[in-house]
Amino acid sequence: MKHSGDAWTISGMKEANARHEDSVRAFLDKIVKSPQDHARFMNMLSMLEHMGSRKIMLSQMNKTLTEDSLKHLAEEARHAYFFKRQAERAAGHSLDGYTEENTMCRVPALMYFGRMDAGITKAVSPADPYPWVSLVIELRACWLYAIYQEALERSGVQISLKSLLAEEDLHLAEMFQMCGADGDRLRALSAYETGLFEKLWAELCISLAAARNSALAA
Ligand SMILES: [Fe+2]
Ligand SMILES: [Fe+2]
Repeated sequence: MKHSGDAWTISGMKEANARHEDSVRAFLDKIVKSPQDHARFMNMLSMLEHMGSRKIMLSQMNKTLTEDSLKHLAEEARHAYFFKRQAERAAGHSLDGYTEENTMCRVPALMYFGRMDAGITKAVSPADPYPWVSLVIELRACWLYAIYQEALERSGVQISLKSLLAEEDLHLAEMFQMCGADGDRLRALSAYETGLFEKLWAELCISLAAARNSALAA
């Protein structure tokens, strides 16, 4: 994390999320071993990456679109494609769109993103929410994908998030630079996102347990 060390220190994100690491690791260790569940989880990540890309496009539409923002939205779109492709490989068939059936926790994930976007937009108004929303998302993406990468390595599943993680780390550094050093605001926004992430993660745990139970009953 050499580019974005300051964002980690100033946000306090890792410290605030340390208590979630074990349960997130346990969930990921379980899900990577179950291709059908893993496929639905990756399709959810694809949906979130797609929403991120779409959000950058919409929020910058009436502004001067820079090469940097265009690169950022293209990379998030590629991440959406990456997870969709891996999800289809794991499922063994195509997963068109993001439906209740092929997307784990579709509605809670939509709510997570929608609430975070709305809450941060309101909190930073009248400033442009784009770098702030992105910065908070990049902290989560880097945090989660690093734990996920370790789980994939432990499981022997042939998926690598390394290049994706490197891109998220660069986005994080760029967004941190754009936001400037307002540490109080960053800490508050990151804490707000952590609360929403906790709710989404609780729903994912319920969903995985339910999928397991119905598989056993079948
Ligand atoms: Fe991404
Ligand atoms: Fe990103």
